[in-house]
Amino acid sequence: MPIAAVIVAAGRGERAGGDLPKQVQSLAGRPVFEWSIRAFRQHQRIEQIVLVVPEGEREAYATRVDPSITVVSGGSTRTASVKAGLQACALSAQDLVLIHDAARPGLDQITITRLIEAMERADAAAPALPVPDALKRESGDGLTTVGREKLYRVQTPQIFKFADICEALSQSEDLVDDLAAIEARDGRVALVEGSERLAKITYPDDLKRLEVLLMSPESAPRFGTGYDVHAFEPGDAVVLCGVRIPHDQKLAGHSDADVAWHALTDAILGAAALGDIGDHFPPSDAKWKGAASEVFLKHAVEEAAAAGWSLSSCDLTVICESPKVKPHREAMRTETARVTGLPLDAVSVKATTTEGLGFTGRGEGIAAQASAVLSPSPSLK
Ligand code: CTP
Ligand code: MG
Repeated sequence: MPIAAVIVAAGRGERAGGDLPKQVQSLAGRPVFEWSIRAFRQHQRIEQIVLVVPEGEREAYATRVDPSITVVSGGSTRTASVKAGLQACALSAQDLVLIHDAARPGLDQITITRLIEAMERADAAAPALPVPDALKRESGDGLTTVGREKLYRVQTPQIFKFADICEALSQSEDLVDDLAAIEARDGRVALVEGSERLAKITYPDDLKRLEVLLMSPESAPRFGTGYDVHAFEPGDAVVLCGVRIPHDQKLAGHSDADVAWHALTDAILGAAALGDIGDHFPPSDAKWKGAASEVFLKHAVEEAAAAGWSLSSCDLTVICESPKVKPHREAMRTETARVTGLPLDAVSVKATTTEGLGFTGRGEGIAAQASAVLSPSPSLK
């Protein structure tokens, strides 16, 4: 039996403030609305996702989401937006539909499963939580205490039979939630376990609080390392981080043999788990023959971005007895910042000797190691 999910994202987010409506603000590097799309896409029972967006913004959203998602324009109230979303569902009467606020990005798989299971014993279901605080009602002569027992905070997604919710809403204008339409018809409502992660972004601080709650290993930064060695051969200069440094030898290797940028390229590819420099630029491929290392480094940054990661810092160590690297360090940082698009203060270049030990100590070549940190990229994949 097909199940659809309608995500309403057509509100103005007036109470939350900010330059952009809350559903497109960034939460841990991803627009808020995209979190719910991801949750529904990853659930194997959901066959259609309908995203309801503000009037006039349908095209803009449609180009940002996966083509499998149906994008429609909403209305001036939440209920009007829900109705627009339901109209776009390819469902028959007895099929199930989940209706969800885009402003609740913390949706997880278990909640979706519990809601679907609850429909075996109910006409509608929603996640709910008890009320932990004391409740007071203000009246003309002061405050009176309201009993908390049997009071619930009801969240979304809420699940319905398609025909039921369409019919119930056809007589409703501006409801606080969709469940209200079913309650009004004395339908059987099941409550499943809600979660603080499912809280709605309503006021300015809510987004930051949810961000802390939702930071998952998946949204955490990624870290990569790279290492490279090139041998000396007769020549008059070496190139390190794109900077030509006069020396009595050069580094062997095709093109500029920029050992430092090769290490950094590998660190970036490694952080994004995209293989290594040899996979991307096989020396056998004429396309890369003689290519400047700048091309490799740029390409690694772009590949990482295409996979949803943006480079946020790097640290390089050049290992050799000579030439002296220190006088060129600032130029090397500046060049690396230019090519990677990093701010200068996020680029570190260091150098060390090996106290005369090993191949670098004997002056046979130069080694370089690099680390790179990638953050989830704010741009959509
Ligand atoms: N919503 C909608 N269409 C509307 C109003 C609201 O699709 N005309 C959506 C919102 O985008 C949000 C959800 O309904 O995902 C819950 O509504 P609410 O928290 O009230 O969001 P906003 O209406 O955007 O916020 P505000 O009321 O502060 O302006
Ligand atoms: Mg509103």
